[in-house]
Amino acid sequence: MAESMLGLKRSHRAAELTEASVGSEVTLMGWVQKRRNLGSLIFVDLRDRSGLMQIMFDENSIGKEGFEKAGTLRSEFVIAVVGTLQKRGGAVNENLKTGTLEVVATQLRILSESETPPFPIEEHSQTKEEMRLKYRYLDLRRPDLQRNLILRSKVATAIRAFLSEEGFLEIETPILNKSTPEGARDYLVPSRVHPGSFYALPQSPQLFKQLLMCSGYDRYFQIAKCFRDEDLRADRQPEFTQVDMELSFVDVDDVIDVNERLLAKIFKEAIGVEVPLPIPRMTWQEAMDRFGSDKPDLRFGMELKDVSKVVEHCGFGVFTGALEQGGSVRGINAKGQGSMPRKKIDALVKLAKDFGAKGLAYLAINEDGSYKSSFTKFLTEEESKALVEAMEGEPGDLLLFAADKNKVVYDVLGNLRLELGKTLGLMDKDQYRFLWVTEFPLLEYSEEEERFVAMHHPFTMPMEEDLPYLETDPGRVRAKAYDIVLNGTELGGGSVRIFQNDVQERMFRALGFTTEQAYRQFGFLLNAFKYGVPPHAGLAYGLDRLIMLMVKADSIRDVIAFPKVKDASCLMTDAPDVVDEKQLEELHIAVTASAKDGAYEV
Ligand code: AMO
Ligand code: AMP
Repeated sequence: MAESMLGLKRSHRAAELTEASVGSEVTLMGWVQKRRNLGSLIFVDLRDRSGLMQIMFDENSIGKEGFEKAGTLRSEFVIAVVGTLQKRGGAVNENLKTGTLEVVATQLRILSESETPPFPIEEHSQTKEEMRLKYRYLDLRRPDLQRNLILRSKVATAIRAFLSEEGFLEIETPILNKSTPEGARDYLVPSRVHPGSFYALPQSPQLFKQLLMCSGYDRYFQIAKCFRDEDLRADRQPEFTQVDMELSFVDVDDVIDVNERLLAKIFKEAIGVEVPLPIPRMTWQEAMDRFGSDKPDLRFGMELKDVSKVVEHCGFGVFTGALEQGGSVRGINAKGQGSMPRKKIDALVKLAKDFGAKGLAYLAINEDGSYKSSFTKFLTEEESKALVEAMEGEPGDLLLFAADKNKVVYDVLGNLRLELGKTLGLMDKDQYRFLWVTEFPLLEYSEEEERFVAMHHPFTMPMEEDLPYLETDPGRVRAKAYDIVLNGTELGGGSVRIFQNDVQERMFRALGFTTEQAYRQFGFLLNAFKYGVPPHAGLAYGLDRLIMLMVKADSIRDVIAFPKVKDASCLMTDAPDVVDEKQLEELHIAVTASAKDGAYEV
């Protein structure tokens, strides 16, 4: 039977009480974590978002009726307790913030009862994630998730405080927008008033923040919900949150400066980590050459080495063939892994093939200096020796080589490096290694679309010295674009924007758009640029990824209150779901596919 709270007022959160308050009367409200009966005493752990407090029920203090009521308490009942804070008479619990304290109850009210929950509400849950997501409201009671969301709130507050102090204005931009292609697939919303027309949910506030610069707001930020219909991974959700910003009258260094100070402040405030400034910078080309990735994990070495020159005249056709095709031969040195069993090496070869390699050549250096290798039979002794030297190979090392087009070689070795880093335990979770990756290529060729597409977006400024190549050799043009990378994760990215109409038109042409097409899609921005546009630049962080790294979670699902699963559905609400025929009629929508597993295509 639920009792009323009338006349009672919570005085503290459970774990906010300290020994300083011993002797005072307190009123706590929260959930029953567990109950233990010890004959004449009953102990209950009361839980709220701050933590736990032990409540002691003693018939002498609470009376017979109260004591009997305490005996009916079960896990997840919501109770109110009035009592006196005292130092524990019995054993102290050193693992608990309030482990030396307890409240001797003088009053108990059961505010609501609970059915037995489908899984225990406890830290480090062993319960399968599907089950936890179905009952997310219970899962969210667990201390680990509560800590994550509390930290997330703290970080958002710190970001707002820092940016407003730096002169940024927080301005909201619309959610119902015009669909503008490029980038991921849009989520569409049908219009009732305009039959056959659709809004698109924003993939980011990009165009609006640029318009705000045109309107003179100078420094904008927003903690913005973004929507992208793309394949989900551990660090991707269909709706996610960006910390988005744009600044006028700035260049790359200005954006980097304010963001370094922002990162240093929030890491210090939220998790006590000092971020040494300045954060190192690396060009995209250097990142690819050294790490085979545009988001290098700097917590360990095992860098790629280009051995094309060393093997260019060797007798191994796989190597020379790749070079003749304009590719390269590169390797990594897995230090001390020379005695890796054949099975494990085969697994690496398979992994390399999964990443697009035709094969993976290996060379293990035995302790006596001899080799065990898949290809040295094709090399002279001198050639093998030169190769080992170029790789700084020592007895006990394992050298792995890929020969192919550069893109494939980077991809294969970059991923092998990460896999080895993971399995060899080289990724220290306590280290935070930040990196700016700069000078990204402006365009990349899409085999699928048979044209160049923007690597960042079509409004990104080319580097001045590369502008002459925009028509003649678009692939070599570098952009004033930058990513902030943390421990191998892309935390955020941005760029300096094009603000000159002639450059923008050349960019559209390079992307294969006619002026007419460009105006149809981005006319409002291009028109705005006719009326006085300041030079501007910006950046956006993935807030979910930032928090995930701060709390050392493996997935952004652990830092989002109500996340979706891989097929973009919500296991708790069953969204997306079929809707009434009447709703569809109003929206002028005819469904052509039958409802399958609750989902349908329009
Ligand atoms: P970009 O597309 O790089 O840039 O996005 C910025 C950051 O948002 C995060 N992010 C995601 N997080 C979770 N789930 C997703 N599906 C997802 N997609 C992206 C990443 C990424 O670095 N408008 C530009 C920014 C700018 O130029 O100012 C933009 O959106 O952490
Ligand atoms: P093969 O002569 O095809 O048996 O290849 C000899 C060795 O070279 C094997 O270990 C293959 O896995 C490896 N290999 C084949 N293609 C490549 C490639 N593109 N890059 C690196 N190694 C390769």
